[in-house]
Amino acid sequence: MIIELQNVSKIYNKDKLNAVHALTGIDLKIQKGDFCAIMGASGSGKSTLLNIIGCLDKPTTGTSMVIGVNTSRATDKSLARLRNTKIGFVLQDFGLIEERTVYDNVCTPLYFSKVKYATYSKLVQEALEKVGIVSLSKRPVRELSGGQKQRVAIARALVCDPEIILADEPTGALDTDNSNMIMDIFSELNQAGKTLLIVTHDPQVAARCQKTYKLSDGQFII
Ligand SMILES: Nc1ncnc2c1ncn2[C@@H]1O[C@H](COP(=O)(O)OP(=O)(O)OP(=O)(O)O)[C@@H](O)[C@H]1O
Ligand SMILES: [Mg+2]
Repeated sequence: MIIELQNVSKIYNKDKLNAVHALTGIDLKIQKGDFCAIMGASGSGKSTLLNIIGCLDKPTTGTSMVIGVNTSRATDKSLARLRNTKIGFVLQDFGLIEERTVYDNVCTPLYFSKVKYATYSKLVQEALEKVGIVSLSKRPVRELSGGQKQRVAIARALVCDPEIILADEPTGALDTDNSNMIMDIFSELNQAGKTLLIVTHDPQVAARCQKTYKLSDGQFII
């Protein structure tokens, strides 16, 4: 298993009056090469689950194994390394630096990797090729359309050649054509052997994944 969660719970503000049980008793097994959708109403725990799998957060109880690492026990440094080299995160609001160029944005994760500076431009070029936006390389992100920005965000997630790609509502802000284009890119990545988990509200997006997990009030439902 590339990802294995056992009895994971997440309580925000634990032991306080405003405690929130965001996840309860989550068991999840994802194999290398799986292509899964995670659905559920707003507030059901989708982003919380993705953040735990992506090592941005830790479970309150239970265990989360990601590529052989028990994320509850790992040091912050080893978690950062795992996150930077093996996991590509595509954020809901793109998380791009608007004033910088496409090239600079896609390049950013490389600064935190062990990749040699001399190979940066080749890797950025390859990532831009995968999402079909090589020609936009020198443009500032603020000039781009929503669909183009989403592709920049995906290229940035790909630049370190991660094994796992996590995407939180990657098509939420896009029209049908752009949404299909993004799903075509994800399908290609999956065919190339990547493991993908996509949070979505869109049944058409989920239909293009191999399997759908549904969350309700922090628990999986069938
Ligand atoms: N940092 C936080 N502190 C306290 N509560 C939080 C925090 N983050 C999320 N929550 C709460 O945890 C629950 C799950 O939130 P989460 O963001 O995982 O939902 P979601 O399914 O991603 O929703 P959406 O579809 O709106 O993005 C919600 O009740 C939310 O208010
Ligand atoms: Mg969310």
